[in-house]
This record gives sequence, C-alpha cells and structure tokens, in this order.
Amino acid sequence: MRILVTGGAGFIGGHLAERFVTDGHDVVVLDNFDPFYDTRIKNHTVEVCRERADEGDGTYRLVEGDVRDADLVTELVEEADYVYHQAAQAGVRPSVQNPRKYDDVNVDGTLNVLDAARGTGIERVVLASSSSVYGKPEYLPYDESHPTTPVSPYGASKLAAERYACAYSEVYDLPAVALRYFTVYGPRMRPNMAISNFVSRCLNGEPPVVYGDGTQTRDFTFIEDIVEANVTLLSEDAADGEALNIGSTDNIEILTLAEEIRDQLAPDLEIEFAERHDADAEHTHADSSKASELLGYEPSRTIREGVAEFVEWYRANREWYEPLVLES
Ligand SMILES: NC(=O)c1ccc[n+]([C@@H]2O[C@H](COP(=O)([O-])OP(=O)(O)OC[C@H]3O[C@@H](n4cnc5c(N)ncnc54)[C@H](O)[C@@H]3O)[C@@H](O)[C@H]2O)c1
Repeated sequence: MRILVTGGAGFIGGHLAERFVTDGHDVVVLDNFDPFYDTRIKNHTVEVCRERADEGDGTYRLVEGDVRDADLVTELVEEADYVYHQAAQAGVRPSVQNPRKYDDVNVDGTLNVLDAARGTGIERVVLASSSSVYGKPEYLPYDESHPTTPVSPYGASKLAAERYACAYSEVYDLPAVALRYFTVYGPRMRPNMAISNFVSRCLNGEPPVVYGDGTQTRDFTFIEDIVEANVTLLSEDAADGEALNIGSTDNIEILTLAEEIRDQLAPDLEIEFAERHDADAEHTHADSSKASELLGYEPSRTIREGVAEFVEWYRANREWYEPLVLES
C-alpha cells in the first residue's frame, strides 16, 4: 500500500511510519520539522525509518513541507492509498499563548488533507484526535457520547478537525476515522511530557516535579497500542465516519505515577510540587469499548509494564535523548 503519514517525523507519526515500512508498505512522510521540541529526535526517527526500509521490502520517502501548503498536500494525497494525518501543533499549555497557530495548522491543515482526499477514491483517511476534545468531565470514564466542551485552544482545534473529518465522511462519502488518543508515551516520546521528565529527573538525582497536588488522573496509552489501532484501519471499515477513544488498561493519578517512577529509579528523592496550569485537564479516562467493538482494540500494557519498557529504552538511548529532555 502507498501510505502518506503527515507529521511522520514526530513521535506518533514516526512510530506509524516505522511500522508501515517494516510491514513492507511504501511510505511517504510529510513533516515540516516544527521546532516545538528539539528536532534531533525527529532526525533520529527518520534515520530509524530509513534503516527499516533498507532492511526490508518497504520504501520510505521524506518530504519536508507544511500541511498548510494545499498544493503540496494535494499532490501527496493523490499518490496515496491511505492517509494517516498526524501532523499538528501539539501541546495544551502553549496553545493558550498562541491559539491562531493551532487553528492554522490543526484545522486548516486538516481541511487541506480532507479536501485533497475527497473525490479521489482514497481507501481511508485516519485522523489523530485527542482526549482534549472532552474538556471538563461530566462523568468518567469518557465514552464517545460524553459532551465535547474543550477547555483549551488545542482541544478546540482538535475537535474542529475531527468534526470536519466526520462531516466529510457524511457529505462526501469519504472513508475517514478519528482516533481520540489518550496521553501517549513510549520510546522517542516528546521530551516535554510527564513521563520523560519524571524518568530523566530521577535518573539524574533530581526530584520529579508534579504540577498541582498530583490528584489529576490520566490514561497513559503505550505507543504500541496506538500503532495497533491504526494498523487495524488498513483493513477495517467498521469505524468509517466515527470518532473512537483509544485509551489504556488503567487510569493513574499523576502523583502515583511520579512515586512509582521515583520508587523504581531513585527511592530517596522527595517529590516536588509546582503550580498547576488552568488549561491542563483535571482527569482523563477512556472508555475504549467502542474501539474494542469496531476494531477489536485491546490495550496490551499496564502503565507499570509500559513505563518499564520506556525506562529500558531510555537507558539504551540515554546518551542522545537525555540532553534533549533536560533542555526541554
Ligand atoms: N502525544 C500524545 O499524547 C497525543 C495525545 C492526543 C493526541 N495527539 C495527537 O497525535 C498527533 C501526533 O502527536 P505527537 O505526540 O506525535 O506530536 P509531535 O509533535 O511529536 O508530532 C507532530 C509532528 O507534526 C509535525 N508538524 C507540525 N506542524 C506541521 C505542519 N504545519 N506541517 C507539517 N508537519 C507539521 C511536527 O514537526 C511533528 O513532527 C497530533 O495530531 C496530536 O494532536 C497526541
């Protein structure tokens, strides 16, 4: 299959591209190497994908460009059987400082992809959506019928993008699916996230810093589970036109997560607390039963297992990865 992965040099897109190339597909990545975090992680991801292509039957092509460039997007979408649209301006807190950029990249960029895809007979467009679309919980875990009232510009932009995809599915018969990811972690994860920070601080003898009192809860979803859900969509059409939660097996308080990591890596350290940010969600917790029904989705790692795998990867890659986390 010819698969276009937008944002394919990033954390999630990079894992998708790697898997598709390894499985023998012809992968094109569109990414503008946005400097939201250190681009050396993205360069590393590209190298890994190129190695996978050299080792097997898959091919890999990197196009450095922007999803806001409608002509370029059209050209690439026309050559693809599937599009995995992962490119986005990520990050909840920075969206409060610069909401326009989130709208430009996440909403207009997505419209470029959808407009290019409609009428082409494309097999499927799969969109990365987010638990941030839910906003304040009226009940937990969130199922897909829960009201969507995002509390950050980031969440609003992801909801708009997702709704466009579902509307295009309705009015243009475009096979499109939106996967609402719940906090994703794993090897090559963005350096400015809780798990990478807790691990790097503990390994360097510095206390993990928890924002707020740590009673916020999260589903942390292991990257391999996200990849599996996406791979299923190469052959499964049951979810076309739908938005689905993709979460994890268990839900954990941030403080408990920090303590778990601290206990494993540096038991003598005291946890430190800093001010909570208003745009951060208080609780996210996924009911993934719709994805389970439609895609056979079953998360495979508990948070403890996933964190242990991440720590193993971190140690093996510490030399180049750690400085990027410490600088973030
Ligand atoms: N990581 C998570 O926990 C999480 C949770 C929910 C949803 N998501 C969504 O998953 C997707 C991937 O997130 P990620 O964590 O891999 O983030 P990431 O920042 O690592 O990846 C996004 C990639 O998109 C690229 N990009 C940004 N703007 C672009 C543009 N204008 N044109 C082309 N490329 C552009 C970036 O350079 C980056 O490589 C995003 O859509 C994000 O909103 C992520």
